[in-house]
Amino acid sequence: MAKKLNSSRVLSLALTLGIILMPRVFAVSIKALNEDKFILGKSFFEKPWVAFPASTTARDGLGPLFNQNACVNCHPQGGRSNKFVVKLDNPNTIYGAQISTKSTGDVPVEARVAIDYQTHISHYENGDTVMLKKPVVRLSNLGYGKVDSTLSVRIAPSLHGLGLLASVPNKPIKRFNLSASEPSVLTQAANAAHNDMGLSNPLYPQENCTNKQIKCNNAPKSNSLDLPQHRLEAIAYFVKNLDQVSAIKPIKLFAKVGCSHCHTPSYDLEKRTIYPYSDLLVHNLGEGGFRTAPLWSGKRAPNFWHDGRADTIEEAILWHGGEAQSAKKSFVNLSKKDRVKFIRFIERM
Ligand code: HEC
Ligand code: HEC
Repeated sequence: MAKKLNSSRVLSLALTLGIILMPRVFAVSIKALNEDKFILGKSFFEKPWVAFPASTTARDGLGPLFNQNACVNCHPQGGRSNKFVVKLDNPNTIYGAQISTKSTGDVPVEARVAIDYQTHISHYENGDTVMLKKPVVRLSNLGYGKVDSTLSVRIAPSLHGLGLLASVPNKPIKRFNLSASEPSVLTQAANAAHNDMGLSNPLYPQENCTNKQIKCNNAPKSNSLDLPQHRLEAIAYFVKNLDQVSAIKPIKLFAKVGCSHCHTPSYDLEKRTIYPYSDLLVHNLGEGGFRTAPLWSGKRAPNFWHDGRADTIEEAILWHGGEAQSAKKSFVNLSKKDRVKFIRFIERM
């Protein structure tokens, strides 16, 4: 039978709890402040934003043109997803740099997006085959006339480990997003807030409307920034602390095949060795320049390649061409046994 608590024990329990809780409530250590920053950043990353004006001024300001109402919709648990955006290869004065598929109020959306796939079959020497598919964007319901540009797809990548990649020494500063065109997690977060969600912020004080988009420009908007500096910093802080990445040492075959020429397995940081498998540099594999994709979040990835065209690691390897043509060839020439072993090794990351 459970013992009944008498009043003096309740009092001492309350005192003990008070002492345990006190430091959390009162102490102002840097760590506690940082924790608050992490929690604040997490909430702004996860909470859905709403259109201005709304009763909740902390997270209104979505749009007028946008793609999703929360970071987490595209980066679930900070990870990769099937969500994507469509970029204009030649940004223009009508549509800007990216197609927005959603809008607030009576602002016309830029377009509806559908993806078709072109397929072809890749052959190994021994007769094994793999079917490869490439996305082709089809736009309909164009809100502002003809789109004068070719289009390309970017899948939402995993954000885990970016804080660690930020501290890799002796590499160009610009190393964030899939084309390595942003110098920090913060600038990329500001870019995402503006382009993907239509949130004005210190780096993008204007709404995400081009001059030709009248209703977008005339939509109601707040006098203050949707995402002020300290909240933007909190989001970047949260993202930089997402650290679910693998630490798998390379097998000999990896360098022998030539993959480590770009997928640099490891770096020694001040306090630990990390295993991202990327040189953080841009290479042309046949379809423009992309940063060598880090491989350390591969195990939890629903797809691969900048546009998600590969369902498996094997398909991703077979898409390598251009600067990686000879490494791809060495991979294709492996014995079936080595090939399977090799793919298994990467799948573990
Ligand atoms: C509509 C989907 C979508 C939303 C919403 C979105 N992202 Fe992304 N995110 C992407 C895509 C697509 C990329 C790749 C962009 C590129 O390379 O051009 C990306 C890239 C990034 C990167 C760079 C990753 C790297 O490897 O360097 C960061 C950081 C990031 N997003 C943070 C955020 C934050 C913070 C938010 C919320 C403010 C957000 N994203 C909202 C789709 C999205
Ligand atoms: C010349 C540099 C280079 C070489 C060599 C190279 N890669 Fe890559 N790799 C890249 C780049 C750049 C990307 C991103 C391509 C894209 O998304 O368009 C990539 C992407 C990948 C991906 C997809 C990862 C993801 O998250 O989308 C895998 C898997 C991969 N490489 C494995 C390999 C393997 C295995 C080898 C050796 C057979 C290899 N790579 C050789 C540069 C290289």
